[in-house]
Amino acid sequence: MNTYNNSIANKGCVVWFTGLSGAGKTTIAQALEQRLIKDKKQVERLDGDVVRQSLTRDLGFSKEDRDTNIERVTFVAKLLARNGVLVLVSFISPYKKHRETARMEVDNFIEVHVNCPLEECERRDVKGMYKKARAGEIQNFTGIDDPYEAPECPELELMTHKCSVDECVEEIVGYLQKKKLI
Ligand SMILES: Nc1ncnc2c1ncn2[C@@H]1O[C@H](COP(=O)(O)OP(=O)(O)OP(=O)(O)O)[C@@H](O)[C@H]1O
Ligand SMILES: [Mg+2]
Repeated sequence: MNTYNNSIANKGCVVWFTGLSGAGKTTIAQALEQRLIKDKKQVERLDGDVVRQSLTRDLGFSKEDRDTNIERVTFVAKLLARNGVLVLVSFISPYKKHRETARMEVDNFIEVHVNCPLEECERRDVKGMYKKARAGEIQNFTGIDDPYEAPECPELELMTHKCSVDECVEEIVGYLQKKKLI
């Protein structure tokens, strides 16, 4: 417990969505955000695509830059969470090392594995990235020519090829209620 939390009614937490591109991280985080706003909760969303156009727009996808990207996001998430905000972080975050660092830095870290088979993500190909990766137009794409290190013990695992967005959202809401975070 840090000094900031002592005077704040809400605990704050970081819900960290990890999974392959197209697995459904952004979709679920957006729906969860709306659900929490309806309940008048303080919520903020940090999404990979948005953050890479602002806070970390100077970074690329080298190993070093990926480290820095997650480092900065973790720092911002930590500041928000300790001020009572429910922070929804949606990044592919393929490396265990990065997620474990975030877990150590943050109080109330909830790792959500948005789990969807690669074939289904590729079928969805929301951004057309898999097609480009298969064609060799982009390199080091997670799941194709860069590894995705699946979480071993996530707080939640959501199978988005089997469950609807609403079911996924309700599962997270149920978890947050059980942990008295909302
Ligand atoms: N249960 C579900 N949960 C989330 N998305 C689902 C689900 N079922 C189907 N989908 C669809 O899967 C797609 C997921 O795309 P989305 O952009 O959310 O993925 P992402 O994980 O954020 O990918 P990226 O890492 O590239 O940003 C959407 O088209 C969404 O409608
Ligand atoms: Mg996304």
